[in-house]
Amino acid sequence: MATVRLDQKSRALTRAIPESYHSALAKFFGSGPTDINLAREQHNAYCKALEDAGLEVHVLPEDENQPDCVFVEDQAVIIDGHVLLPVPGHPSRVNEQPPIADFLIEKMGGAQICRMSGDARMDGGDILRLGDIFFVGRSSRTNDGGIKELEDLLEHLNYELRIIDIPDGALHLTSIASTPTDEIILAPKGMLPEDAFGELPEGSQVCWMPIEETYGCNTIGLPGNKVLVAEGYPAVLNKLIELNLEPIILDVSQFRAGDGSLTCCSLFY
Ligand code: GLY
Repeated sequence: MATVRLDQKSRALTRAIPESYHSALAKFFGSGPTDINLAREQHNAYCKALEDAGLEVHVLPEDENQPDCVFVEDQAVIIDGHVLLPVPGHPSRVNEQPPIADFLIEKMGGAQICRMSGDARMDGGDILRLGDIFFVGRSSRTNDGGIKELEDLLEHLNYELRIIDIPDGALHLTSIASTPTDEIILAPKGMLPEDAFGELPEGSQVCWMPIEETYGCNTIGLPGNKVLVAEGYPAVLNKLIELNLEPIILDVSQFRAGDGSLTCCSLFY
């Protein structure tokens, strides 16, 4: 998940994969999961990689009535101990939220919790943080009402928000971009305008990757210079090595089949 800085990543929430995952929404990267056992093996490896990097990982039980429930990133926006619970942008995903909200409220005692309401819609996957700057994707899942609620929270916290229009061929902002460190954005060249992220602070940069490696641009930066990266994206891998990072490569073919990427499967709290 992309709304915390590297130094704030010590605990991760994930959720197990139900048998019903074969019915997960899929129309961007994937055409639907085909192998639930493999999906579970890949998810176990993902949780282990987070643990090996020193994080405490909690796995919520799956819910057979919620085929997409493994993609917890969309269900909460956690910023500096504040939690925004969005109304998810797809109606079939609304009922995934209560156990995640209950868990966060219990574990983040004292956190300020805001609940989105009315016509506002947002998936957490539309938010990206680079240090003190936040980016939000205006997408098929996140509307102007949702963006306004995020903007109000960020104004209160004194952070800047920049809006990026997500092209029709992409699901979320984090489907096409990530911040493997607090200074680097990875994004596919040609998918977004070159000035999409605006002027960045000194020392920060956008690394534009080949458009064929769009999926690989979703990475998870972890403490100790480690970065989780999907298997099969050599240009992204080489860029991470060039940046003196330590890539941990994971096969996530069954996440991709359900339109999910690495960041989709965790919330850092
Ligand atoms: N399958 C992930 C999503 O569409 O929300």
